[in-house]
Amino acid sequence: DGFSATKLFNQGYSYTYDDVIFLPHYIDFPTDAVNLSTKLSTNINLSVPCVASPMDTVTESSMAVAMASLGGIGIIHSNNTAVEQAALIRSAKSHRIPYVSTDIPFVNPNDCILDSSVFDTFPCVFVTENGCQKDRKLLGVVDKLVWNSLSDKEARVSGYMKKNVVTLPNTSSFNDVAGYLAANDLDLVPLVSENGELVDVVSGKDVERINGFPKLGLPTVGKGGEFLVGASIGTRESDKERLKQLVDAGADVIVIDSSQGNSIYQIEMIKYAKKMFPSIDVIGGNVVTMYQAQNLIQAGVDGLRVGMGSGSICTTQEVCAVGRGQATAVYKVASIASQSGIPIIADGGISNSGHIVKALTLGASTVMMGSFLAGSTEAPGVYEFQGGRKVKKYRGMGSLEAMTKGSDARYLGDTAKMKIAQGVVGAVADKGSVLKFIPYTMQAVKQGFQDLGADSLQAAHELLRSGTLRLEARTGAAQIEGGVHGLVSYEKKAF
Ligand code: XMP
Repeated sequence: DGFSATKLFNQGYSYTYDDVIFLPHYIDFPTDAVNLSTKLSTNINLSVPCVASPMDTVTESSMAVAMASLGGIGIIHSNNTAVEQAALIRSAKSHRIPYVSTDIPFVNPNDCILDSSVFDTFPCVFVTENGCQKDRKLLGVVDKLVWNSLSDKEARVSGYMKKNVVTLPNTSSFNDVAGYLAANDLDLVPLVSENGELVDVVSGKDVERINGFPKLGLPTVGKGGEFLVGASIGTRESDKERLKQLVDAGADVIVIDSSQGNSIYQIEMIKYAKKMFPSIDVIGGNVVTMYQAQNLIQAGVDGLRVGMGSGSICTTQEVCAVGRGQATAVYKVASIASQSGIPIIADGGISNSGHIVKALTLGASTVMMGSFLAGSTEAPGVYEFQGGRKVKKYRGMGSLEAMTKGSDARYLGDTAKMKIAQGVVGAVADKGSVLKFIPYTMQAVKQGFQDLGADSLQAAHELLRSGTLRLEARTGAAQIEGGVHGLVSYEKKAF
C-alpha cells in the first residue's frame, strides 16, 4: 500500500511538504512516550528539534534565550556589525531565565525625574552608570512612592535614590528567583552580573506567567548553566574577523549563511573556521542536492542547512530559477548526510506542525523557522496594527530593505554591485510567546509521530529508510480536502 520514500522521491518531481502525505502506521505507545531529542550538529544536542533562523526580524538575544530555555536553539543574525552581533551573544549568555522585562526604565544619576510617566511600566526606575541599556552598572533605585513624596522634583536622582538595592546574581535559576521573591514577600528583584551590571528584573507577575507556560524538554545549556547560542556569518574576508569576535563572545555554533552554499567561498570558510576553532561546530549551507551536500561534508561541516526558495518570504525560485521542493530536498540531502552522520536542518517553509512532522520524518534532525516565530513576543521589533490586526514585521534577508542594511552577502557573494531582491518585506500575525506556542506545537508533532508508529526521530528515520513507512503524493484536490473546506466561516484555534 502506498509508496516507499525511495520510490516516491525518484520519479522526477520536486515535492514540497504539502505535496506528500504519510500513511498511518501502527500505534503501540502513548503520545508522551515520543522523545523528540535530537542533534543540531555533530556536538550539539537539543531536547526539542526547533531552531530560530538567523534573520534580523527573528533572532536576537531574546529569541535565542527563549529557544534555548525550551530545549531548542536560536542563531543570532549577522545583518549588523560584528560588535553588535557579539553584544547580542553576550546578552543572551548573561541570562539564565527567559527575558522577563524588555522595557526597564533607566535614568542617569545626574538626571532629574520631572514627571511621573517614567513610572508607567514599572513601579520604580533604575539608576545606572550611563542611564542607557548598554554597560549599565546598577547604582540605585527610585521608588515611585519616594518620588511622589519629593518636594523638589528638580533634584538630581543621585540625591534621593536608594543605594542599597537588594539584588540576585544573574546566574540564579528561575526557581531560586521565584523562591526568593516568595520568601521575602517582594514584588520584584533586579538580577545583576558579576560586574554589577543590571541584566534583568523579575517580578512576581513574571514568575506567575512563566509558571503558567507548559513544560517542555531540558533547556539547551553549557557546563556552567549558560544557554547555548548560535551565530551566523557570511563568506567574505571580513567574516573571518567577525567569526573571531563571535567565538570570543561565546558563540557555541557557527552557521555559514548563504542561499547557495556549494561555493569555493563557503568551502574555504568552513576549512578556515574548523582550523581556527576546532572545538566549535560549523554548519554549512544552504544546500538542496546530494552533490552540494557531499562537497560541504567533505569540507568538514558538522551540520547542513537544507532549503532553497522554500521560505515564506523567498523569491529565489522565481528570480533565479533554482531551488527545490522542500520535501524532496530534505529527503535527498538526508539520504547522503546520514551516511556520514551529519545532522541536517530543514530550513524554511514550515507553517504548521504537520510540516514539522514531515521534515523530521523525511530525514531532518531539526527544523529552522522564520515566519513561524516572527510574530512572537520574543522576535525583534514592535507590534503594529494593520487593519485591526496586531502584527510584527517580517522580512526576507534577501529583500531590498534588508540588503540595504548589509545582508547582501548571503545573496550576492563578493562582487555584484547591482542589488536584485530575492525576498520580500511583510508582516505576520501576533502569536504571543514562543514559550507557550512551541510546547503546544511539539505536542502536536508528538501526536503525528505516534500516528506513524515512531517514538523518536531515529525510529522515524529508520521506518522511512527501511520502506516500512509509506507515502503518497497528494493531488490538488486531495490537498484541498486535507484542509478545512466547505464551511462558510470557522475559527482556527489550535490550543
Ligand atoms: P520561513 O518559511 O520559515 O523561511 O519563513 C525562513 C528561511 O527562509 C530563508 N530566507 C530567504 N530565502 N530570500 C530567500 O530566498 C530571502 O529574502 C530570505 N530570507 C530568509 C532562510 O533560509 C530562512 O531561514
